[in-house]
This record gives sequence, structure tokens and C-alpha cells, in this order.
Amino acid sequence: MIILALVFLVVCISWAHWLAHAHRMDRRTASLPALPTLPLIGNGSLFMGDTEPIGDPRDAQVVLENCLDKDVVYRFLRPWLGHGLFVAPVNLWKTHRKVLLPVFHNKIVEEYLGVIAEQADVLVERLEEKTNGKSFDVLKHVTACTLDIVFETAMGERMDVQHSPDTPYLRARHTVMEILNKRLFKVWLQPDCLFNLTRYARQQKDNIHVTHQFTDEVVQKRRLAYENKNIKNETKKQPEGKLPAVLDLLFGREIEFTNVQLREHIDSITIAGNDTTALVIAYTLVLLGIHQDAQEKVLQEQQQIFGTEKRGSTKEDLLKMNYLERVIKESMRLYTVVPIIARNIDKDIYLPTCGVTMPAGSGAVIGAFAIHRSTAVWGPNPDEFDPDRFLPERSHDRHPAAFLPFSYGSRNCIGRNFGMLIIKSILSSVVRSYKIEADDIGPLKIEMLLFPKNGHQIKISRRTS
Ligand code: HEM
Repeated sequence: MIILALVFLVVCISWAHWLAHAHRMDRRTASLPALPTLPLIGNGSLFMGDTEPIGDPRDAQVVLENCLDKDVVYRFLRPWLGHGLFVAPVNLWKTHRKVLLPVFHNKIVEEYLGVIAEQADVLVERLEEKTNGKSFDVLKHVTACTLDIVFETAMGERMDVQHSPDTPYLRARHTVMEILNKRLFKVWLQPDCLFNLTRYARQQKDNIHVTHQFTDEVVQKRRLAYENKNIKNETKKQPEGKLPAVLDLLFGREIEFTNVQLREHIDSITIAGNDTTALVIAYTLVLLGIHQDAQEKVLQEQQQIFGTEKRGSTKEDLLKMNYLERVIKESMRLYTVVPIIARNIDKDIYLPTCGVTMPAGSGAVIGAFAIHRSTAVWGPNPDEFDPDRFLPERSHDRHPAAFLPFSYGSRNCIGRNFGMLIIKSILSSVVRSYKIEADDIGPLKIEMLLFPKNGHQIKISRRTS
């Protein structure tokens, strides 16, 4: 009884506190143009179904250049990612991003092309069993491949998810993601005091523990190796010819990261880098299946580069894949896998298109998906698949914040070049091996990322020559 009364009291105090805050913000934001709201859930519907055109690149640019702090909604990731780069508070983020940035330099990530090519070969081989004329959801296969690439390059661990997809670590990771998705879109699960009363809180804690244990062990092992002078110099290869992983490159830097900080950064990288990359590949495969003319052009470009050689892509090959690059960009525009980006407005900022000031303490949601489908930016047919929108002569007049798949400004995606290498290299291998067919992407749903409700359905058949 006493416990119930205490819970009730905590709920009432939190509610009163929230109402007072909301009232203060309402007064300060009264002059802003408002979106329609529903009783109880307010603008929550924006996160559940159709996306409204709420974005303008000029406003997005102002917010993303000036407000580097993540919105409070990212706090749900804190128990998992701590102060890892993805959710780090802005002061810490500034110093840590400087240290991590050189590790994602093109010259470093290009060294991983061998790992990428090897895993692309495994994917091609695994897809063979799908050449039975039936449709299947390709995302699962691509995700296993990107997990293998991201784990090996970020942590130096060979997971072989493509052959052994069911491990306690992967199950735990999946469960945490499912709970986070529920929390993001179910308002009643958002206050900690209510969430902690549900079974999800215990499940989340236990599964986060499993994932932390896994990364902690890897960090300890690699630190020991580093301290034993196995990995002395970031630019040198390891004795057995293996490349240093991102984690290895974070030892002995200008900031001496603790093991916990390393775990938080590595977890942030593997979580931010994997599903995003896999989704872009899967959407692009479906689009190539729908648009046979574009697939034929991609294939011709590949044949010009490789002839009949069956090998993975090198840096030089990737530079020649101009048409494929335009197809990937068009895929990221139409199916923006991170459809919304939310920032905390930590100082008053003026939004040029509506002529109002957003007060400090409010939050801003950048509708990247909406901006990517805006007629004002992309012309009369923004829903049409047209890779040539990204020809240089058709792009130079476009607003710099009109295309935001990797966000914009200094807190944009640190792994964007690496992501593009993986996407191009895998698509090159798959398209050279299989002819792809697809009907439609169908309705979409927003979880933390953007998914087609019916999955990424394609049919494949072996190319004969
Ligand atoms: C096509 C693939 C990718 C897409 C579409 C993508 C997209 C994004 C976006 C939109 C953000 C900003 C999110 C926000 O502010 O809410 C971001 C941040 C981030 N991404 Fe990526 N990403 C991709 C690949 C990768 C890869 C391959 C890695 C690393 C291996 C990576 C690591 C990160 C990290 C660490 C951050 C946080 C950066 C910071 O706050 O400084 N991403 N990504």
C-alpha cells in the first residue's frame, strides 16, 4: 500500500513538473507556426504514420549548424550507449569527435576494402539458395553481411554472422532495439517512472548487460594486445598481416580513453553503422529490381570496370562507379533510412523561412524524409526515381541542406564515407552476380529507422556470363 502511494506521488510530481514546463514552453513558442495536434498524443502521430512535409532546407541548415546537442528523446539510448559519440553531451562530444574523426578518414577506411570484398563474396554465395524464383526479404541477408563487416572493422572480431546468425549477443542486441522502438513511439512508456514499472525495464537491463559484457571483453583483450606492444603504431599493420580495427586506433591517442569510454564509442559505431548501411543496400536492390533500365545501366558500368573478372572492388574501381553512386543517392533520397533527426535547441535561434525565433529549451525535429520529397526542392515529381537528379549539372543550384541522408553540419555522420564504400562494393558484387526483380516497396513505417511494412522483397536469378 505504501509502495503504491509512493508510486502515485512520484507520478503526480513528475506530471506536475512536466505540465509546468510544457506551459512555459507553450508561452514561448506561441508565435511559431503549429502543426495539427491530437488530444493526449499531441504531434506524436507524426512519428507513427504518414510523414507531413514539415521541413525546409534553409531552416534545417540553421538548426543543424547551430544546435549540436541531441534532443531529449535520445536519452532512451543512454543506458546502452552511455556517452558514446552518438548521444554524447555536446561538450564531451566536441573533444571526442576530434579524436575519432581521423580514424574515419578515407585513407584509413579504404584499407578495409579487403574485408568488405570478402564478406560480399560470402553474401553472394549465401544468396545462391534464393535463386528458386520465389520472392524473399533480402534485408536479413544484407544485415548479416554488414554486421560481419562492421564488427571486424570496428572491433577486430570475426563474428561470421552470415553463417551463424543466432548468438546470445545478437539476440540481446535485437531485444534492446525492439524495446527502444516501443519506447520511442509509445508515449506511456516514455517517463522513466512508468517504464521502470514494466517488464521491459528488466528485459532491457538484462540484455544491455549481455551486450556490454561482450564489448567489454573485446576492449580488454585488445587493450592487453596493445599494451603487449602487438599494436604499437596505428599506421603499421599487425604482425600477422591483419589490419588494426577502429578500436585499436583509439589506444594511445591525445585523450587516453578508459575501457568504458571505448566500449561506449565502439557500441555507438556498430549500432549507428550497421542497420543504416544494410537498409540503404536493401532499398537500392529493390529499386533496381523495379527499375530494370537503371539496373541495366549499373550492369553496363560494372562490365566496363570489371569485364568478366570476378573480384572484389578496389578503391580505383569504386571511383569509376558514377552511375551506381547516383542510384544510391537517389535511393537514400526516396527512402531516407534516418527519416527524422531531433536536436535540442540550446540557444534561441532564428528560423529564416517562418521569421520566428525558436526558444532555447525547445526541441526541433528535422524531417529529412519530408525535405527529400519536397516539390520546392526537387521539382514537380519528387516521388519519381530519377538517379540523374544527382548529375553535377543538376545539383549545383540545390541548397546544401536539401540532401540529408547523413544529417548535416559538424555533427553529421562520422561514418558516411565508410558507409558509401560498403554500399557500393556490396551492390557491385550482387549486381554482377544476380539479375534482380521486384514489384513495389509498398507502405512504409518509421521505427528508429525507416522500414517497408512488407520487407524488402526481391527475386533473383544467376547471371550466366
Ligand atoms: C548509409 C549508411 C549510414 C547512414 C544513412 C547514416 C546516417 C547517420 C545520421 C543521419 C546520423 C545523425 C543522426 C542523428 O543526429 O540523429 C549519423 C550519425 C552517426 N553515424 Fe552514421 N550513417 C550511416 C553509416 C554509418 C557508418 C558505416 C558508421 C560507422 C561505422 C556510422 C557511425 C555514425 C556515428 C558514430 C554517428 C554519431 C556521430 C556524432 O554524433 O558525432 N554511420 N549517421
